[in-house]
Amino acid sequence: MTAAEDVFGASYESASRYVDILSERGIEWGLIGPREGDRLWDRHVLNSAALADLIPNGSTLADVGSGAGLPGIPLAILRPDLQVALVEPLLRRSTFLAQAVEELELTDRVTVVRARAEEHRQRYDVVVARALAPLDRLITWCNPLRSPGGAILALKGRSAADELESAQRTLAVRRLVGEVLSVRAHPSVEPTTVVRVIERRS
Ligand SMILES: C[S@@+](CC[C@H](N)C(=O)[O-])C[C@H]1O[C@@H](n2cnc3c(N)ncnc32)[C@H](O)[C@@H]1O
Repeated sequence: MTAAEDVFGASYESASRYVDILSERGIEWGLIGPREGDRLWDRHVLNSAALADLIPNGSTLADVGSGAGLPGIPLAILRPDLQVALVEPLLRRSTFLAQAVEELELTDRVTVVRARAEEHRQRYDVVVARALAPLDRLITWCNPLRSPGGAILALKGRSAADELESAQRTLAVRRLVGEVLSVRAHPSVEPTTVVRVIERRS
């Protein structure tokens, strides 16, 4: 059994259909780099799925700057308990997302919101983002979308600790705290770095 089969279990077929969509239309439409075709599972889908353990059961979730649906679509496939909004301002990308959501039969739980984060007025238990912006700007955009008591989860690479340091003022004025976590979807895949931002306890 592969790591992907192990992680997705009964939803593996759906995850596999999403990988097909990424490797065909995603590359054709320029949303996924042509060299990513061979590493869609590890670098994109399982990397996204690594956030799952940080998301409470039954959460509403916004994926801000969703692009081709990462990390929001893998999380929606893996976690049928989530209600997911894919927030993406660009027409081409939001069209791609709407088609993918329809084809993956996720329309009852996943909506596509064509908007910039700053224009969107809804609130969510968890706000996730990958490759959206440097952490301080990401917090400025995503915090207004976070419900009281909720969290922002930013998938970051090796720069996580430095970005967190640079974002201290942005966090302090909003009475937030951030921590760097290392998570992985499966013991056989590379861990990934996440910055979790929550309200400061006082
Ligand atoms: C580098 S892509 C990352 C896409 C996807 N999250 C991923 O990891 O593959 C950044 C995405 O953020 C979107 N974006 C840029 N500024 C944004 C904003 N202010 N609000 C919401 N999305 C934004 C872009 O349109 C783009 O799709």
